[in-house]
Amino acid sequence: MILKLTVYHGNFVDTPSLGDVRIRPQTTIGVGTDGKILFIKEKSQDPLRDALDFDQTLQPSEVAVVKISGSQDGSFFFPGFVDTHVHASQYPNAGIFGSSTLLDWLQTYTFPLEASLKDADTARAVYNRVLDRTLANGTTTASYYTTIDAASSNLMARICAEKGQRAFIGKVCMDQNSPDYYVELFKECKHSTRQVVDYIKKELKDEKIQPVLTPRFAPSCSRELMSWLGQLAHEEDLNVQTHLSENLAELELVAELFPECENYSQVYDNHHLLTKKTLLAHCVHLSDKEIELLKLRGCGVSHCPISNSSLASGECRVRLLLDNGINVGLGTDLSGGYSSSILAVARQALLVSRHLAMKETDAKKQEHVNLSVEDVLFLASLGGAQALSLGSVVGSFEVNKQFDAQLINLDPVSSNVDVFEWQRTSWNDSPKEGENQKLARNLLAKWLFTGDDRNTARVWVAGRLVHSYPASAT
Ligand code: GUN
Ligand code: FE
Repeated sequence: MILKLTVYHGNFVDTPSLGDVRIRPQTTIGVGTDGKILFIKEKSQDPLRDALDFDQTLQPSEVAVVKISGSQDGSFFFPGFVDTHVHASQYPNAGIFGSSTLLDWLQTYTFPLEASLKDADTARAVYNRVLDRTLANGTTTASYYTTIDAASSNLMARICAEKGQRAFIGKVCMDQNSPDYYVELFKECKHSTRQVVDYIKKELKDEKIQPVLTPRFAPSCSRELMSWLGQLAHEEDLNVQTHLSENLAELELVAELFPECENYSQVYDNHHLLTKKTLLAHCVHLSDKEIELLKLRGCGVSHCPISNSSLASGECRVRLLLDNGINVGLGTDLSGGYSSSILAVARQALLVSRHLAMKETDAKKQEHVNLSVEDVLFLASLGGAQALSLGSVVGSFEVNKQFDAQLINLDPVSSNVDVFEWQRTSWNDSPKEGENQKLARNLLAKWLFTGDDRNTARVWVAGRLVHSYPASAT
C-alpha cells in the first residue's frame, strides 16, 4: 500500500496574529504527501478515525499516525521557526567578534572568512554544519546570504534541498568599496547572479528553494549594479534582501557615497529595490520618513537583536514598525549574531524591548513598547513568514498551509527546563476554565527563557521529518 496521508495528534500551539496564542489540545492534523495540511480536527481521540472520516476511500494501511500523547505530558507542536536573515557562510565565526563594530568587523572577521569559502570543501563543510544546526534549533525556513561565489552558492542550494529546509539562497552582490580579494566587477556580478538564479529555478527545481537577489548593502554596491538588480527583481518577480540602517558609522558612509539621496532608504528606492518582496535587515536608525517609505512600498523588516547588541549597533524600535503595519520577522544574522537559534533571538527581542521601554517616561508608553512572550513567538514564526511573503504558506497551522512544524518537549531526560508538578497542565479544557490556559502560557514562557535545542525533539518541513533529538528518535 502507498502512504497517502499522515495524521499528527497532540497539543498544537501557534500564534495566528501578533500577541495572540492559540492552544488546540488533543488535536489531529492531517497532512497530504505534498506536505499540505488537509484537515484540522480539534478535541479528537482517535487520529486514524479522523483520517478515515476525512476521506472515506482511504484504507487504514494508507495512513501513518504520529501520536504524541499522554495529555499530562509537556509536549506540544509549534510552527517551525523562520530565520529571516542569516549569513550561512559566516557560521564558523559565531561568537568571534571581539569588541568590533560593523565596519571594522566586516574587514577583520567577515570578508576573509567569506572569501575562504571559494574552496568547495570548505564551503561544503560550513554549509552542512550550519544547516544541521539551524534545523536542530527548529528553523524550517531561512533566508540565507552565501558569498559572492556562484559555484558554492549553488552547492548551498543543493545541500539545502537534500536536507529538506525551506530556504531563500542569496548570492552576495558587491562591486565596490570591498577588499581586492573579495569583490566582483559589475559584469562578473551580473553573470554570477544569473548563474545562481538560473541554477535554482531551472536545474534544482525544488519549490522549497528560491533565489533571492542580495545586494550586500549600499556601500558595497555601485549604482549600476543596484539598478540592474532592481530591474531583475521586477522582471522576474524575485525576492530581494539587503541590510539597512544598522550602524551610525555606516549611515555616515552612505550619506558620503550617495549625496543625492535624502536618507539611506532612498538609496535603495532610487534603484527600485524596495518592493513587497524586499526584506531589510536591522533598520535600527530609521527616520519617521523612512518608516513611511518602507510602509508605502510594503517591505518587510528582519529584526536581529542579538547581532545588534553584539556589534553595539543599537536597538531597533520594533513596536513602532509594527504600529506602522510593517511586517517584522526575526534574524539570527550569523555571525554578527552569535546564536543559530531563533528561540534565543526571540528571547533577546523581548529583552531589548524592555531596554527601550526603560527609556520611556510615560507608564502607558512603557507598557506599549514591551514585547510579550506571545509577541516574540509570533515574530519567530508567522511574523517571519509574512516578512518573507510566505504568510500564506507557512508560519501557523491552517488548512492549505504546509506542515512545517517542531515538536517541543519540555520534559526530556536532560535539558535546562525544569517543570514542577504543579506547573503541568492537562492542556484540555477543564471545569476551572482558564487555569489550563494560564499554565500553558507559563510553559511557553519557560520554553522561551530556559529552553534550547534539547527541547526540539522533532522537526518537519512540508511533512518530511528533517531532525530528531535524540538522534535515534523516530
Ligand atoms: N552589512 C554589510 N554586510 C553585513 C554583514 O555581513 N552582516 C551584518 N550584520 N551587516 C552587514
Ligand atoms: Fe547581516
